[in-house]
Amino acid sequence: MTTASSEGSRRDFLLVATGAVAAVGAAATAWPLVSQMNPDASTVAAGAPIEVDLTPIAEGQDIKVFWRGKPIYIMNRTKKQIDEARQVPVSELRDPQTDQSRVKEGHDNWLVVIGICTHLGCIPIAHDGNYDGFFCPCHGSQYDSSGRIRQGPAPLNLPVPPYQFVSDSKIQIG
Ligand code: FES
Repeated sequence: MTTASSEGSRRDFLLVATGAVAAVGAAATAWPLVSQMNPDASTVAAGAPIEVDLTPIAEGQDIKVFWRGKPIYIMNRTKKQIDEARQVPVSELRDPQTDQSRVKEGHDNWLVVIGICTHLGCIPIAHDGNYDGFFCPCHGSQYDSSGRIRQGPAPLNLPVPPYQFVSDSKIQIG
């Protein structure tokens, strides 16, 4: 005989199971998009430059790609993020760099940084922290929307990898 409580828990299980399938489905659909933007594994392993199509990255969003085994964040910054990054006096920064020196002129909305915390090498989370930039959960370093260190133990800004625009909507990293 089935009790009310065991029916309840079976129903809960089914709901959880359905949710899990939905989550896997979402991950499976997101992956091809990112994977299309990456070259094949042998090219990456060889350290060759990679090209990234920026078209799918809406304003306020970011993606992470891998170049030479390193995570690279590409962020399409909002005007608010750009303004905030440019309003802070550079002399107050721990690793003083202007926002302008960290982006390409004429493409000021695009921030491209190596996503490795300069403290002990964790991968920070984008669009998090007090500065709408990056937050490193390992020891609490906070980077601003220019990837500059603003709070916490990290000594330096997130590095900008070598890259160039090959068209208005495509960059080559490396
Ligand atoms: S590794 Fe990021 S704060 Fe320590």
